[in-house]
Amino acid sequence: MISKYILDSISRGSLIRIMFERGKRLKEEFGNENVYDLTLGNPILEPPPEYFEALKTVSELRHHGLHRYMVNVGFDDVRANIANWLNQKGLLPGATKEHVAMTIGAGGALNVILRAILDPGDEVVIFAPYFVEYLFYVAAHQGKAIIVDTNSDFTLNLDELDKKITRRTKAVIINSPNNPSGRVYTKELLNQFVALLEEKQRKYRKPILLISDEPYRELVFDNIEVPPVCAMYSNSLMVYSWSKSLSIPGDRIGYIAFNPNIQAPRMLDALSFCLRLLGFVNAPATIQIVVNKLLDVTVDIQQYQKKRDRIFNALQAAGYEIVKPEGTFYLFPKSPDKNNITFIEKALERRVLLVPGQGFGCPNYFRIAYCTDDRTIDKALEVLVDLR
Ligand SMILES: Cc1ncc(COP(=O)(O)O)c(C=O)c1O
Repeated sequence: MISKYILDSISRGSLIRIMFERGKRLKEEFGNENVYDLTLGNPILEPPPEYFEALKTVSELRHHGLHRYMVNVGFDDVRANIANWLNQKGLLPGATKEHVAMTIGAGGALNVILRAILDPGDEVVIFAPYFVEYLFYVAAHQGKAIIVDTNSDFTLNLDELDKKITRRTKAVIINSPNNPSGRVYTKELLNQFVALLEEKQRKYRKPILLISDEPYRELVFDNIEVPPVCAMYSNSLMVYSWSKSLSIPGDRIGYIAFNPNIQAPRMLDALSFCLRLLGFVNAPATIQIVVNKLLDVTVDIQQYQKKRDRIFNALQAAGYEIVKPEGTFYLFPKSPDKNNITFIEKALERRVLLVPGQGFGCPNYFRIAYCTDDRTIDKALEVLVDLR
């Protein structure tokens, strides 16, 4: 009774699922503490104290109607405050609440956008390595994902992009800081990237939307800047989530903010309708009010930086080929084995769980998620250094 499309989709993800199942069995056999799991992008850091304070304040509020249905795009005052903040930070000059829609995290935001913009067969360009869900989201809304490889340092390969944009291209998704590579695109690179999009828009005489997926925007190291790409290109939509910056992925909150000059006059109406159509209706009321008080608050990023340094230094010294991540809580080293799966298997035998790069469109790599405790990291490092 399951649809063919869903059956195909669940078997396509099977390699990662097999790893997940085997990891689960290992945990049952040896106990959680004896299996070193580096697969999950589920941060173990607790949310900052300000989050609990804000939750407490909201629980004491007796706003008339706070917990009722609301307009689909979220509370007016929350959207206005976010727009104001985006202006102040130079992330989206000219934005007002009419350019902001609250969503169920970045995952919800991406689905709402894709549902709003895609007609069957429209192409969406995605750079590899990519967040695997992009493929499912694009297909679910009847689009066609077009994969563009990045350079060996995971920067955008603009020559490849040049070849892959066609008159059927509806949107290009970028994700910086990047899951899984940790790469942050520089201003120079983004300038060239948006210049190429502008050129293609002129060539095909149609808008090409840029979707900038930014759930790791604050998770950057060494005071690096994440350039405001949506301020650099009119036909852009920013996707944001507090899942990582506040360590609250289970509370499901994020937003879409789009450039006021976007060539899509009814964008807010379309996003609002798609929030309904997809059954999200609106983002959770309580958490909207909470995050609205915390626009400048994040978890302690230093903790991630320390973990990044420790793993990067150890793996590099051991001879792994690895690009130093500038942000996120992932590393994406090249597999030392010609056959990546053999390597992942060897790690698994020694109870270290990794995600094969196949899942991100890069079969010769593997992903480490280090949003976990130091003991797990140290134990896993012993094995990884040994396997090199
Ligand atoms: C690149 C990227 N985009 C989107 C998401 C979805 O995040 P959310 O929890 O906000 O739905 C993730 C989650 O890991 C991600 O890594």
